[in-house]
Amino acid sequence: MLVHIKEIVAKAKEGNYGIGAFNVANLETTLGVTRAAVKVRAPIIIQVSEKTIEYAGLKPITHIVQTIAKNEAADIPVALHLDHGHSFKSVSECINAGFSSIHIDASDLPFDENVKITKESVDYAHKHGVWAQGELGRIFGKEGLVNGNFEKLEEFLTDPQQAVEFVEKTGVDTLAISVGTYHGRFKGKEKIYFDRLDEIRKAISVPLVLHGASGIPDNELTKAIEHGIQIVNIDTSLRVAFTEKLKETVNKETDYVDPRKILGPSIEAVSEVVIRKIKHLGSNNKA
Ligand code: G3H
Ligand code: 13P
Ligand code: ZN
Repeated sequence: MLVHIKEIVAKAKEGNYGIGAFNVANLETTLGVTRAAVKVRAPIIIQVSEKTIEYAGLKPITHIVQTIAKNEAADIPVALHLDHGHSFKSVSECINAGFSSIHIDASDLPFDENVKITKESVDYAHKHGVWAQGELGRIFGKEGLVNGNFEKLEEFLTDPQQAVEFVEKTGVDTLAISVGTYHGRFKGKEKIYFDRLDEIRKAISVPLVLHGASGIPDNELTKAIEHGIQIVNIDTSLRVAFTEKLKETVNKETDYVDPRKILGPSIEAVSEVVIRKIKHLGSNNKA
């Protein structure tokens, strides 16, 4: 069932488990994520990025997620979230479309500008009963290309004292922090700076969001939850599972022309990854 994100996060806090926020791009990835959640009875966040909205259209992707949540996942709490909104325009469009949560990401701008842009979206979101996530510190990376320097990462980690000021000035409901992960999978290079995470957790009480979680081992996810992360964003691992299975299928079954036969195994491959991640976050059997 479609619920407000605040219900999912409140229960997770009470039960001390983490929530997976899984990126979807189309019907098939949405089915893969949702079927996994239904199978292991886990509350989930389904999130879409601006690029997905550009690809699928805001209304179609919103309706795909909402319809699947209401029907395929009638007994499982599902919240719809905008991931990495970069403008007031995209944030407000998602709020008007029925999302219960948005992310305004102005983390590449100087602190004061980040505060100003974030606050504008937070105010609009709150007027509409929607939660807003802000971002402080830089999370680099994308599809194997890093627009940042691994050696200099420590300079871009979230500063705990700045986080206090950011939360106070913007009124965000959740905060995306930089504690060592990258968007994309850079095995062996990504790690969580647990000391920094502990300091941030002590300094502020809003739910903390770990982005770029595909590149860290599953047991580190469990540890991140123990250290106070509440929401974990996962995209690349799902893309890899989907695409690798797709390649395998078309290479093996060269006479297939039915998209359902070609895409079906990829839906299942996404589900397998989601189930594994959910179990490491501890949100299985919580719906
Ligand atoms: O962190 C970003 C998400 O993985 C979305 O990526 O903008 O390529 O859809 P995207
Ligand atoms: P990964 O692609 O590294 O899993 O990051 C996902 C993410 O942070 C979406 O906001
Ligand atoms: Zn992210």
